[in-house]
Amino acid sequence: MSLEPLIPNRLDDEKSALVVLDQTLLPGEVVYRALHTTEEICHAIKTLQVRGAPAIGVAAGYGAYLGAKAAPEESFDAFYGYFSAVRDALAASRPTAVNLFWALNRMDKKVLSMKEAPIPAIKAALKEESLAIHREDIAQNKAISEYGLSLLKPGDGILTHCNAGPIATSEYGTALGPILLGQEKGYGFKVFADETRPLLQGARLTAFELHRAGVDVTLICDNMASMVMKNGWVQACLVGCDRVAANGDVANKIGTSGVAILAKHYGIPFYVLGPTTTIDLDCPTGADIPIEQRDPEEIRSLWYEKPMAPRCKMFNPAFDVTDHELIAGIITEKGIARPPYSESLRKLFE
Ligand code: MRU
Repeated sequence: MSLEPLIPNRLDDEKSALVVLDQTLLPGEVVYRALHTTEEICHAIKTLQVRGAPAIGVAAGYGAYLGAKAAPEESFDAFYGYFSAVRDALAASRPTAVNLFWALNRMDKKVLSMKEAPIPAIKAALKEESLAIHREDIAQNKAISEYGLSLLKPGDGILTHCNAGPIATSEYGTALGPILLGQEKGYGFKVFADETRPLLQGARLTAFELHRAGVDVTLICDNMASMVMKNGWVQACLVGCDRVAANGDVANKIGTSGVAILAKHYGIPFYVLGPTTTIDLDCPTGADIPIEQRDPEEIRSLWYEKPMAPRCKMFNPAFDVTDHELIAGIITEKGIARPPYSESLRKLFE
């Protein structure tokens, strides 16, 4: 019996709503929320109801369209003033995943290319653009999955961190894409999912998605990755990305860089998977990537009946940067970039 796919983003144009899967409730409950206003969409992104770099990009595209749909039509200036406020509000929802800004820029460019057109035509074009962003993400994920699978052998052990599966993207996912595609082809991978403190995307989402798909998945605490690698159980690490700098440094979920360092120590290839919409050639190095800081209560009290630490100082960055020297390949829909990344990433855009 095949299970119903979980869809992170869907446009319900008739009801002027973005319907998102509320990922904060997984794995316990599958709840879809219809979001009608820019405020509701920003809130859903901030609180990680919709999360994962490509899914945030798709949500931003739909959010920009739905905002524009409500904009005044008496003049281009009035329309663009309203649209710009929606765009800026969405852009302020999360700072690290560049897909958000990429999607908003694309929507903005579409508007500016149609300055002379009637406003209803601009609105119709924005709807088409947001749907195109989503469609393209689906196709990109499939291509990434195929390239990723070409690097793996049947029976391989794979370690992943955070969640870069279908609910963080569109359909196959990025880091989980080769695993799910391999599952369809009978590869029999053995996957280790880091639980990914503090928000537990690995436990709540990756283990859930893989287990649901029938993949052999073993959940481990983040501090067990070294032992699992030392035991010889991991032949490759696959992770997603939130922003790739021009030199190949990669921002991804906090803890990713530690996994990469361990992989280097044990001689295991560490691969990053993501669409080219996650590559930011305007960001020279990882040091230029803005890193989101989140509420420290996520560490102290989120999952506990009672707070599990005193009110001491806390530090809760949502992402870290993996040095490009630790990365064996960056797998995109346009192919696999290899070091030196300052050349290979640029080539992807030629
Ligand atoms: O804070 P999150 O859950 O949005 O962080 C997500 C990640 O870090 C993912 O690994 C990354 O976005 C890649 S998703 C395909």
